[in-house]
Amino acid sequence: MALIKLLLSTSLFLAGLDTVHAACEPEISFPVPNYGKHTLREPLSDITKNLDSLINAGDFAKTSFSLEISSSSKTLYTKYHTDKSLGGSPINGSSVYRIASGTKLFTALGILKQEALGKLNLDDEVTTYVSSLSTGSSKISWKGITIRSLLAHAGGLPDNFGDEDLLLTLADPSIIGLPPATAAQLHDLPKCGLYSNWTNSCTTADLNHDLHQVNPVFAPQKETSYSNVGFNILGEILSNVTGLKYEDYISTSILNPLGMKDSTFEVPDNSVAANAGSGSYWDFDLAVGIPSGGMYSSSSDMMKFLRWTLKNHDKITPTINWFQPSAWNSGSHSLLGSPWEIFRSTEILPNTRRPVTFYTKGGGLEGYYSYSIIIPQYDLVIFMSVAGELAGLSNLYTKVLNPLVIAAESEAQRQLKDNYGGVYVSTDKKLNSSITFSHTDARALHITSWVSNSTEVLAALGSFVSQKAGTTGDLYFQLMPTFRTKRSSDGRIGDIWRFINVIDDYDHPINATTVWNDYCVVNIDPISYANVPVNELVFWRSANGSNSGVDEVTLSAFRVTLHRS
Ligand SMILES: *[C@@H]1O[C@H](CO)[C@@H](O)[C@H](O)[C@H]1NC(C)=O
Ligand SMILES: *[C@@H]1O[C@H](CO)[C@@H](O)[C@H](O)[C@H]1NC(C)=O
Ligand SMILES: *[C@@H]1O[C@H](CO)[C@@H](O)[C@H](O)[C@H]1NC(C)=O
Ligand SMILES: *[C@@H]1O[C@H](CO)[C@@H](O)[C@H](O)[C@H]1NC(C)=O
Ligand SMILES: *[C@@H]1O[C@H](CO)[C@@H](O)[C@H](O)[C@H]1NC(C)=O
Ligand SMILES: *[C@@H]1O[C@H](CO)[C@@H](O)[C@H](O)[C@H]1NC(C)=O
Ligand SMILES: *[C@@H]1O[C@H](CO)[C@@H](O)[C@H](O)[C@H]1NC(C)=O
Repeated sequence: MALIKLLLSTSLFLAGLDTVHAACEPEISFPVPNYGKHTLREPLSDITKNLDSLINAGDFAKTSFSLEISSSSKTLYTKYHTDKSLGGSPINGSSVYRIASGTKLFTALGILKQEALGKLNLDDEVTTYVSSLSTGSSKISWKGITIRSLLAHAGGLPDNFGDEDLLLTLADPSIIGLPPATAAQLHDLPKCGLYSNWTNSCTTADLNHDLHQVNPVFAPQKETSYSNVGFNILGEILSNVTGLKYEDYISTSILNPLGMKDSTFEVPDNSVAANAGSGSYWDFDLAVGIPSGGMYSSSSDMMKFLRWTLKNHDKITPTINWFQPSAWNSGSHSLLGSPWEIFRSTEILPNTRRPVTFYTKGGGLEGYYSYSIIIPQYDLVIFMSVAGELAGLSNLYTKVLNPLVIAAESEAQRQLKDNYGGVYVSTDKKLNSSITFSHTDARALHITSWVSNSTEVLAALGSFVSQKAGTTGDLYFQLMPTFRTKRSSDGRIGDIWRFINVIDDYDHPINATTVWNDYCVVNIDPISYANVPVNELVFWRSANGSNSGVDEVTLSAFRVTLHRS
């Protein structure tokens, strides 16, 4: 009796999870689109028109920029703009910018590579490798400050040192009510970086000295707050475990293997520079700050790196998928990875609240700003960098990213419909079995009719599922790929998919009644029959070997294969 009760309550509990609200439909409800020669041609030419009209309207006066868009395998779009007043060579894909904090991606990847080699553990405290931090008296207790926490800006460390001090940048501090600095304060100031008007670079010893003077921002692992200092320490850790200079390790382990010939840590020749005009930090030596922001690179090099990242982010080390979020940022849609700045929006796609997730890293240093962006669900990477005045920068987001995502979604949905949609029927004339996969932008691929061996499955399964979930809402079965494949006995490739039950309660704007529909727990493996998942299907790719287009589907639990008609 007790056992039966337990089973019942377990299945009731699970039933709540089998069915999701429209706000919880799977982010990935289609395979990544294929981009052919002419795919996205029209939206991309619209992007050019939009940018050209902004350029003509003077939005990019005193600003040069490089913009590249690509899939994981090929370049889809480039646009280079040279502002003549800034001087220098015309901008092209090899023009070199300071990528500033974009450098942190290379530092993080270096750490993950060393982790994969067993040379360090992400949960080691940083003082294991930089013991000088905790020698002598320090206001920062280094306990609990791990490599992993620094990767996600969660170590509680200050942002900068030797930089951004109002004492140096504000001629008269009293205009914002600050008292004059005391003699003792002046005596203890760092002697490098901005404090020396950039005549002395800040060394490891300067950083170490400063970290013994300053307070932490918060206790470790409680909150996140951007920390350049944290990445400088990660650079020291890399030197420690590899026995190499940071720059040499990154060059030999990442830049050279990827063929990033334009990328360096030394000031490149002026002839390749994207000129930023006077006042830029083009040739400032960040020294100990290099691991947090010292790299120089071009848009074509950064695309090599970002494409590699898109293809390999889950294969670098078994302990962590590089795109995995580590901590919350502020707001409800921003998270921190290591150190990806992850943004997830449900507001970009016009017909659904399916989220779009952007893995980004921005970086700025006087005269330069760059963004790296990866959108895995559409197999897209974008790099944009500007030199000169940064005023026109936000246009690159609104005039490029929004239309690009909407176009990629529309392309993904078109391919989904063409490659999988339609009616599949039994070739055995004696067996009355068929299934129809319909497509709309809102519901993606979903089942609209289903007969198995003369039984109407759709209505019966629908009411069975609704009853279990305790809902009377309009319910549909939406398909999602699992990215697993199998081979048939005759050598064909089958892509394994599942369908999940979605309640169609798309409601906008969200109100107090519907807000909890955003609470999502998804189970794509809810019920089986004879130990085979009821919601599993296998799409068999066309025998002619074409990668797109399928001609048969197997409904695993129903032990039937239907032919696309
Ligand atoms: C890019 O511009 C530089 C400097 O003008 C030039 O040397 C180089 O050949 C150009 N590269 C390409 C791919 O056009
Ligand atoms: C690495 O750091 C440890 C602890 O600070 C130190 O004992 C060791 O000598 C360092 N190794 C290198 C190569 O710097
Ligand atoms: C810092 O250096 C710049 C350029 O070298 C110079 O114009 C400026 O006057 C210097 N500032 C101070 C406070 O020395
Ligand atoms: C079809 O239904 C009949 C009668 O229930 C059953 O004997 C048969 O095995 C079913 N065939 C398939 C392929 O489901
Ligand atoms: C197949 O089964 C469906 C559902 O029971 C029924 O409506 C339809 O008439 C059947 N078709 C044939 C050809 O028997
Ligand atoms: C919220 O939306 C639901 C679903 O559309 C609707 O039934 C309800 O009346 C709305 N509530 C308020 C307070 O607007
Ligand atoms: C392969 O099959 C697909 C789907 O049936 C079809 O669209 C495509 O034209 C075929 N390609 C060749 C080269 O026969």
